[in-house]
Amino acid sequence: MPHRGAVLVFLLALAAAPLAAVAWRPWPPRVASGALAGLGASKKFEGSSNFVKLEYHMGPVLAADITVHPIWYGAWPADQKRTIRAFLRSLSPQASGEKEGAVPSPSVADWWRTVRLYTDQTTANVSAVVALGQEKCDARMSRGASLSRMDIQSVVKDAVTARTRPLPVDAGGVYLVLTSPEVRVENFCGQVCGFHYFTFPSVVGYTLPYAWVGNSAGRCPEVCAYPFAIPAYVPGRRPEAPPNGDAGVDGMVSVIAHELAEMASNPLANAWYAGGDPSFPTEIADLCEGIYGTGGGGAYTGQLLTDGRSGASYNLNGVGGRRFLVQWVWDPYRSYCSGPNALDQH
Ligand SMILES: *[C@@H]1O[C@H](CO)[C@@H](O)[C@H](O)[C@H]1NC(C)=O
Repeated sequence: MPHRGAVLVFLLALAAAPLAAVAWRPWPPRVASGALAGLGASKKFEGSSNFVKLEYHMGPVLAADITVHPIWYGAWPADQKRTIRAFLRSLSPQASGEKEGAVPSPSVADWWRTVRLYTDQTTANVSAVVALGQEKCDARMSRGASLSRMDIQSVVKDAVTARTRPLPVDAGGVYLVLTSPEVRVENFCGQVCGFHYFTFPSVVGYTLPYAWVGNSAGRCPEVCAYPFAIPAYVPGRRPEAPPNGDAGVDGMVSVIAHELAEMASNPLANAWYAGGDPSFPTEIADLCEGIYGTGGGGAYTGQLLTDGRSGASYNLNGVGGRRFLVQWVWDPYRSYCSGPNALDQH
């Protein structure tokens, strides 16, 4: 019966929605022939405004002060946590108790300025305040070492409903599930390195924006920690040295940044994205994957800065003298990818 068919299609679409959560796709893109897409293409790519129709779909952005609650799933050594916390504190250093002006430009907070350009129909901007909130550890991997996408939502549920020290459910709270290298996640490496979505009241009791990012070290660093590892199908490229000495974690930092930028501008998958299908949107960081500096595009990262002492590549400064390499995001006014280390955008 046609009617039942339509209902079935609708239910299938609903069932597929959490699976099609908004994701960081592997970079550089590999085409069927095994050749590298975009290699040899214009170096002055920086996203092409002719092809991009980023549109606003009337939903909210994260306009209230944002608090990021990390959930450490699996075994997380203290030094790896410190690097990720330092990045999160760098998004708005004052909100995390750092002194004003302590971080030189180009800074992580400068990078967040592009995300703040996105507004919703109340004309409220994405918040300038991004604070590191409370944390939860699940070192014993209570949901197992192999997680489906729906399991990630259950990990968030466990954290906010825990009997001891649950994570708070606050107005600007977002939840960041970070999995250690031994944890397998559905479609990890093959299709995604991270994704963001929101929890369902029927599962968690609330609608909460959350993201997952996995540590790809030992699993697929050439996919998810690029350019700190280089795929075999890119001949003659040397990997960049990671600014915090850990390719897996330094690679995660850029994916975390990607997911936070998209979560802030499209938290309920109904605000800022390009493309007609909200299940497979192209969001403000998707448009700039693999671009970290001026001239970036195809297999070229764009111009990076070099740490004089370690030789590591980076493009942003953070708190405590830290340095990070973070992809750019789409600037809605300039209609191209933008970051504070740009040499030619003023
Ligand atoms: C808020 O967004 C508007 C519109 O994009 C922009 O012109 C303005 O500079 C933004 N404000 C801040 C503080 O970023």
